[in-house]
Amino acid sequence: PIILIAALAGGYLLGSIPFGLVLTRLAGHGDIRNIGSGNIGATNVLRTGNKFLAFLTVILDGGKGAAAALIAEYLTPGAGLFAGGAAFIGHIYPVWLKFRGGKGMATFLGTMLALSWPAGIACCLTWLVIALTFRISSLSALVAALLSPLYSYYISGTGLAILSCILCVLIFLRHKDNIKRLLQGTEPRIGKKS
Ligand code: G3P
Repeated sequence: PIILIAALAGGYLLGSIPFGLVLTRLAGHGDIRNIGSGNIGATNVLRTGNKFLAFLTVILDGGKGAAAALIAEYLTPGAGLFAGGAAFIGHIYPVWLKFRGGKGMATFLGTMLALSWPAGIACCLTWLVIALTFRISSLSALVAALLSPLYSYYISGTGLAILSCILCVLIFLRHKDNIKRLLQGTEPRIGKKS
């Protein structure tokens, strides 16, 4: 149990670093929460017009999920699932931001890639195909999240399938406003300022 608690706590702490918020502030763009959708993720960082910063946000938000899962798995085989899941929770509910964090997609993809790279690649490719077709980040996230339990189950196994089911539900909950806009046809395309 001590190992499990360490994996959960370590994963949560790593995941709770709000890279999008920190980077935009450091780059002099102000508080990302006052821009576009108000989200701290890479899609919204892109709305500052700074592509490199958005790219860095994806890498670091994804990297923290991957790092949490890989470190835990290396120390204790089997703990990666818990640490990766905890990193995701840390990203969407960070204690430092009064539990108002991001929507989780980059951290989700990083965690998936670390726990099963083929399942992770399948999720990334799904995201990419939908993004290239419709140019809407939230739609790509929702479709990739929805298919992830299926990929996980057939490529990896029950453990990852259960984790991706839970994370998929959380991703949908965090995209509540996006889903409303998608249904109204008002969700902005990738890179558009509003
Ligand atoms: O992954 C986040 C994306 O799905 C939505 O971001 O800023 O358009 O709400 P945003």
